Amino acid sequence: MPCRANCARPSNHGPVPNARLFWIHGSGYTQDSFRAQVEAFPKSEALSLPGHPEGEPLTSVADMARWLARHVRESGNGKAVVGGNSLGGAIALEWALQHPEQAAGLILIGTGARLRVSPAIFESIDNSWPACIEQLVDFAVSSNASAELRQHAREWHERVGQRATRLDYAACDEFDVMERLGQICVPTLIVVGSEDKLTPAKFSRFLHERIQGSELLEVPGAGHIVMAERPDVVNPAIGTFLEKITAAPA
Ligand code: COA
Repeated sequence: MPCRANCARPSNHGPVPNARLFWIHGSGYTQDSFRAQVEAFPKSEALSLPGHPEGEPLTSVADMARWLARHVRESGNGKAVVGGNSLGGAIALEWALQHPEQAAGLILIGTGARLRVSPAIFESIDNSWPACIEQLVDFAVSSNASAELRQHAREWHERVGQRATRLDYAACDEFDVMERLGQICVPTLIVVGSEDKLTPAKFSRFLHERIQGSELLEVPGAGHIVMAERPDVVNPAIGTFLEKITAAPA
């Protein structure tokens, strides 16, 4: 499938045999937010960004994308599909723009091309961290989410802590690739929960309109971490997408 005229690079839409699959979490989370996807796609790898909690956090989406590219390069051969949630989706987009030669596909889950952050979130992280965790959990899930998922989300934030979470949100706040989406030349699946409070479905529809050939799955009644909340709906869609773009399932 041809890319838009403003795409400077050749199209990457042909099937890519044995592409590797990586998952990247959102702000203040860890690789555990993709537990249901690693179970469903056992050859895939969920990554924790530096500082989540081990190591020193990175401070921009561009640096996080460079870190991802290094991991893709050093962890094996061939191209990769990257699935990201929220900040992770921003990193995946930036990575595909920086390193089209590595990218076989994108799975963008509860994210957007620009991720401005409400000043109230920064204020809450800075001034009332323990209460802020509860607020961030409320933002992350729908009213239909289980108490168990809420508890998991709480634990991810507790493990990652105030400083790295704030740096993640600051990186989101600076992120903006709205004008560059026409340069994305890889098969892309976009997934969003209809009740996403942090990155509303409007953001995903925008991605779908601007990324040539992309597919959009809107999951009714689900929230921002839709992959953890509704893996029963999201995983089959990912499986179908992967079958289309790779010769063998991940
Ligand atoms: N895709 C499509 N449209 C987008 C977009 C995206 N990624 N990001 C913003 N827009 C739209 C907005 O919907 C808005 O449209 P409108 O004028 O028709 O209402 C317009 O672009 C401007 O939005 P924005 O750049 O966000 O600026 P703002 O001054 O209107 O709002 C905030 C800034 C921070 C108050 C607002 O983004 C917000 O309430 N965010 C809360 C959620 C949050 O903090 N999420 C964290 C993301 S990690």
